[in-house]
Amino acid sequence: MPASKKTRRFQAPQSMKKYCRNLQKQGRSIGFVPTMGYFHDGHIAIIRKARQQNDEIVVSIFVNPMQFGPHEDCDRYPRDLPRDMDICRDEGVGAVFIPETKDLYPDGFSTKVSVGRLGELLCGKSRPGHFDGVATVVLKLLEIVRPDRFYLGQKDAQQALIITRMVDDFNLDSKLTIVPTVREKDGLALSSRNAYLSEEERRQAPVLSRALRAVQKKMLVGGETGVEAIETLMKEMIESEPLARLDYARAVDHESLEGMDPLRGRILLAVAAYFGEARLIDNLPVTVPGRMATERHRQGGA
Ligand code: PAJ
Repeated sequence: MPASKKTRRFQAPQSMKKYCRNLQKQGRSIGFVPTMGYFHDGHIAIIRKARQQNDEIVVSIFVNPMQFGPHEDCDRYPRDLPRDMDICRDEGVGAVFIPETKDLYPDGFSTKVSVGRLGELLCGKSRPGHFDGVATVVLKLLEIVRPDRFYLGQKDAQQALIITRMVDDFNLDSKLTIVPTVREKDGLALSSRNAYLSEEERRQAPVLSRALRAVQKKMLVGGETGVEAIETLMKEMIESEPLARLDYARAVDHESLEGMDPLRGRILLAVAAYFGEARLIDNLPVTVPGRMATERHRQGGA
């Protein structure tokens, strides 16, 4: 896509706010894409979606310390600002917000969003406080930009669900759109953390998406609705790769993220595993027709 205009860059929340309020006064709609940078085609797909639906695009790049645990990769999270800026310019992004930590969390900062139970399940179990940190920064960014629409990826399904909940709970005006997961040819979901993978880990990592596809087929074609059978199959497939260290492999209700048996309605298949230093996640939403689950149950299926 040819560069249409210059991309403005802001660091201070106040100047970012001023720029956005000016656009709003002119009646220009704003689409907002929050990121931590180090762009890949997943980020670009989201920016393009936003581009289709809004007059102006604002992207934020901020590696948010509040959503990283003390032993996580905040400090060594991959960064490439010049390349990200080039991509923003090529994609017609009007403004990029790149605050420093002190700009968003000045001395004395104290108020946090508490997301409750949804933040304790799946990834929340091994990353306590992570989703409170995500919700806090997203709320701050939404208040600075006040976009008409904002965009998140299905790749981080739990994050998208928690932010959907927050938008409702706090009566926020911005409308959230969730963009489908972008994958490599071999199925691996694109992630900035794929940069951590060794050659051998990279070769084994697509087992995550293969496991999701295999159980999707088992459910939709094979008629399997037993949660234990489904979760065991994903677990065994993932653990068959010697470099994978499983965190979880779950089939849960798509909205509450709680377990259920038999599986029926809208299900989220969700997996997380470590490959060396990299903690990778993936998911697949599946809808099980109610009739299938009921029949299977009647026949004594798990
Ligand atoms: P980050 O990991 O940079 O991701 C930015 C957005 O890109 C998120 O909405 C994420 O779900 C989406 N994304 C990542 N990989 C994707 C893929 N393969 N396909 C489609 N979308 C993908 O997620 C965050 O940053 C942060 O938690 C943030 C929301 C910015 C808050 O700090």
